Amino acid sequence: MATRAWFPTTLYHEPLQKRGLDRFNADLAVECRQIRDYDDDGRRWSDKNYPGGYTSYATLNRLHEFSSTFAGLERKLTQHVRRFARELDMDLRGREIYMTDFWVNIMPERSAHSLHLHPLSFISGTYYVVTPPGCPGLKFEDPRLSKFMAAPPKLAKARPENQTHITYPAQAGWVLLFESWLRHEVAANPCADERISVSFNYNWR
Ligand SMILES: [Fe+2]
Repeated sequence: MATRAWFPTTLYHEPLQKRGLDRFNADLAVECRQIRDYDDDGRRWSDKNYPGGYTSYATLNRLHEFSSTFAGLERKLTQHVRRFARELDMDLRGREIYMTDFWVNIMPERSAHSLHLHPLSFISGTYYVVTPPGCPGLKFEDPRLSKFMAAPPKLAKARPENQTHITYPAQAGWVLLFESWLRHEVAANPCADERISVSFNYNWR
């Protein structure tokens, strides 16, 4: 072939672990809802900034330091983040990676999360806890979208890697990692049931 792709945008998608996910997620969902019930400031912040839903992003955002459940999950997620960083050929010799933020997102029917990125970290991700059938996935945007200038639109049947957006399904028990600069959003939840996820950022030193 005369052409070859360069500068890929890489996403990581793997189950958290091989066994015991149902029990683990059931317990984690209980804790996520307890955090929402306890977090008066976070519910007030969410009313203004996360319409219809709840996030502890602005209030209880270092849950790995306060909860043994979240600390255990942090250890497992760090293994996945290491694998992802290795896949990206990042030089972590003599360096360490560490979680900076860890928070809960609960999206009832009709709540959405508009396009954003995660500043002050290099790898971010989400772990899915409760994902009712038909709930929205995570939609990523081609980071070069603003540079396409006078390019014609893409074919409807363009190869997946040539499309301008990709949506990963939200699947309970799965870890989804991305580089923190990659913009993403969650469409409105059409399900009567809540969609629950936990999100996190990693930095290095
Ligand atoms: Fe995000």
